[in-house]
Amino acid sequence: MIPHSRPTLGPEEAAAATRVLLSGQVAQGEEVGSFEEAVASLAGVRNAAAVGSGTAALHLALLALDIGAGDEVVLPSFVCTALLNAVRYVRATPVLADINGETFNIDPRDVKRRLTKKTRAVIVPHMFGLPADIAEIVALGIPVVEDCAQSLGSSRQGAPTGGLGALSVFSFYATKVICTGEGGMVAGNDRRLIDKVKDLRDYDGKEDGALRYNYKLTDLQAALGSVQLRKLPGFIARRRAIARRYDESFRGYGLALPVCPRESESIPYRYVVRTERIEELLAAGQAAGIAYRRPVFKPLHRYLGVTGYPRSEEAFRTALSVPLYPSLEDGDVQTIVQHVQTVLR
Ligand SMILES: Cc1ncc(COP(=O)(O)O)c(C=O)c1O
Repeated sequence: MIPHSRPTLGPEEAAAATRVLLSGQVAQGEEVGSFEEAVASLAGVRNAAAVGSGTAALHLALLALDIGAGDEVVLPSFVCTALLNAVRYVRATPVLADINGETFNIDPRDVKRRLTKKTRAVIVPHMFGLPADIAEIVALGIPVVEDCAQSLGSSRQGAPTGGLGALSVFSFYATKVICTGEGGMVAGNDRRLIDKVKDLRDYDGKEDGALRYNYKLTDLQAALGSVQLRKLPGFIARRRAIARRYDESFRGYGLALPVCPRESESIPYRYVVRTERIEELLAAGQAAGIAYRRPVFKPLHRYLGVTGYPRSEEAFRTALSVPLYPSLEDGDVQTIVQHVQTVLR
C-alpha cells in the first residue's frame, strides 16, 4: 500500500531522541526553548510558545486574544474540525466563510460579508501550503490568527507565513511539513500575547487559581522538531520535485491541477486536483494499493447543518489529494503517475 501520507524520519531523529532520553530531561526544558527560537526565526517573528498540538495552539491563541462567549470567530468551511473545536473550546460562536474554489483558501470578500459587531477574530489557514490572501483580511482591522499548520516554510511576497497576522499557529503532527509526533506552536511579535500562551499551557506554580491547561511540548518532541527543521529545505525541494512531476504527467487528463502562482514561495504540502471522477479514482486506488484521499473529511458547514457555501461544497465533491511527501520514493511516484493516467485515459 502507498499511504496517503507518512512522516520522513531517519537516524538523525533517532540520535536526537536517544540523546534527550539518556539526559533524563524529557519534559519541557531547554530543547523546547531552542525549538521555539528556531520556529520564530523561520516565521520572521520575535516570540513563540510550543504546545502539545496544533489544536492546543489554536485554543490558546484564541484565549490570548481574550475571545470567549458572545464573540464571533470567522473561519473557512473547507478545513478540518480542529479549527471549529478550538472556537467551541472558548465558547465563541463559529461563523463560516466560503473559499476561493481554485486556491482552496478562505475568500476575503466572503469574510467581509460575514463580519458583524461581534466579530473578534478571523482564522486564516494557508491551505495545502499555498499562502492565503491574508493582507486583504488583515486590512479589515480584525485580529487574524494565521494557521500555518500546512504552510511551514512558505512565504507571500517575500514575507514568511507565520508573521502576517496577530498570532500564528503551527502543527507538528506526524504527517505535517515537519513532525514531532504530536506538537504545535503559537508565534507572534507581541510578547505579551506569547507570554500569556506560555502561562496558560502550564498549570503548576501559579499564585492565582485561574483556569489553565497542561498543553506542554516535551524536550523529546522538541529535539525531533529541531532536527526536522534543519531538514526542511530538503523536504521542500523534494516536495516541489514530486509536484513538478505530477504537473507534467497529469496535463491532458481532464484534471484541474493545483494553483501554484508563485512556485518559489508556496510549498506543495498536499497535491490536490479537482475532478468529477473522484469516486472512480478513490475506488481504483483502493484496489491498486494507492491511498488517494479527500483532503478535508467533511466541510464544516455540513457539521453545523448550514448552507450557503457553494465553493466549499464543490471542493468537497471534486477535490482529491494525491500522495506527496518527502519519503515517497521515485518508484512510488511512477506507480501513482501510471495509475492516474491509466484510470483517466
Ligand atoms: C489547517 C490546520 N490547522 C490545525 C490543525 C490541527 O493540528 P493538530 O492535529 O496538531 O491538532 C490541522 C490538522 O490537520 C490543520 O490542517
